[in-house]
Amino acid sequence: MSALHLSATEFRALAARMVQLAAGVHEHVEGARAYPRTSGAQTRQAFEEPAPREGLKGAALDALVDVIDMSRLPTPRFFGYVLGSGEPVAALADLLASVLNQNVTAWRSAPAAVTIERQVVRWIADALGCAGFAGSLCGGGSSANLMALAMARESRLPANDAGARPGIIYCSGEVHMSIAKAVALLGLGRRSLHTVPVDGQARMSVGALQRAIAQDRAAGGDLIAVVASAGTVSTGAIDPLEEIAEVCRANDLWLHVDGAYGALGALVAAEKYRGLNRADSLSVDLHKWLYQPVDCGLLLYRDAALAAKTFSHTEDYARMIDPGPGEDFAFFEESLELSRRFRALKVWLSLRYHGLEAFRAAIRSDLEHAQQLGQAIVGCPELELLAPVELSAVCFRYRGADGQADLDQLNAAILRQIIGNGRIYLSNASIAGAFALRACFVNHRTRASDVEEIVPEVLKAARAVCSRHPGAHTSTP
Ligand SMILES: Cc1ncc(COP(=O)(O)O)c(C=O)c1O
Repeated sequence: MSALHLSATEFRALAARMVQLAAGVHEHVEGARAYPRTSGAQTRQAFEEPAPREGLKGAALDALVDVIDMSRLPTPRFFGYVLGSGEPVAALADLLASVLNQNVTAWRSAPAAVTIERQVVRWIADALGCAGFAGSLCGGGSSANLMALAMARESRLPANDAGARPGIIYCSGEVHMSIAKAVALLGLGRRSLHTVPVDGQARMSVGALQRAIAQDRAAGGDLIAVVASAGTVSTGAIDPLEEIAEVCRANDLWLHVDGAYGALGALVAAEKYRGLNRADSLSVDLHKWLYQPVDCGLLLYRDAALAAKTFSHTEDYARMIDPGPGEDFAFFEESLELSRRFRALKVWLSLRYHGLEAFRAAIRSDLEHAQQLGQAIVGCPELELLAPVELSAVCFRYRGADGQADLDQLNAAILRQIIGNGRIYLSNASIAGAFALRACFVNHRTRASDVEEIVPEVLKAARAVCSRHPGAHTSTP
């Protein structure tokens, strides 16, 4: 018997303890601190140890209590970054996915999993108004953006055989950093990423895009694509997709829409996303605004044949022998990944359990919570809104005293204080060069009463900071 063997009885006993722990987190997450009381020294002390030579058996699980204690939990008052709240039915599905250990390469390796993933892709594409798009799940928005730009490159300046040469990709300065990373990785050179100015609402200026294209063409540049954002990471701005699609059509450019954060807003506010279905490729993160546990990105694309042209490189050992009807599909022919987790199980199960309408309701609440906070900030003389609230991200800052010069420093100190206080969690953004406090609502646990806590928490933190640093005065409304 293998030294790694686990009897059915032992598995049940471990699973029961595990479920007990997970259920404890689930039960207490509402009241939990938004940031754990821990430090780098404490986490090192808890977990840095030599690999055990002999197994600890059941006692190995004892340390999970520390893991939970030193984790930033998905509380209703977590508003940082763009991080979904971990829908619990999906979390349970993840356990089964790991036990089944399907390698979702191709139908023959994972018949149910492949079929379910293709179904989930169709469900999401349809819900976004992109019926007919194909696609696959991946680690997240960064991977999806990389794959999308690889397809764009292969469509306009094929590089798979002869290698890459510079080709221009347009985006606004508000685009996510994963785009610059993808351009660099694809060998196009970061200088090939041309930044188009934005309007007063942080949306790409279509006139400026047209001028940039005309200039670059006149200079003999090779053009590849435009990357539009459907929800920028800082403020949730949505580029004018319809107009940009028209520019792409007129200039034969690939249109990639980075909707990693915002595209799922189209489930409830389709009017904001006109033109989304004209994209050649679209990134959507289900671990953001569909509340799925990390990781769960999705790349949708219009042309599956082009995905195959970009990613297919099948060695003999992976070739299929006499597949039956419907059995010849292989994700590895259309994706960067070969070995792939059964990510679709969690999405499929949580959509089946709750239904699309429940997700729509949660997204609608997030949008309302952002408006609620926006209004509270406008109504608070000590705070100022730094950007329009387009989706569910709210950027603002503490005003400080009249004429105070170090507002960036002051707000950074306030953010540290807020996080240390542990009641709410905010992150930060840079808005026109200014340090902003940022709350982003992609959290199905948040209630209006949680949102009500944000302004008082910020003011409490501001007073604490100002009392510690006599130079930094509280504002006098
Ligand atoms: C607009 C946008 N694109 C891409 C990403 C990257 O997604 P991931 O962290 O899943 O790689 C993010 C992450 O916040 C994002 O907001």
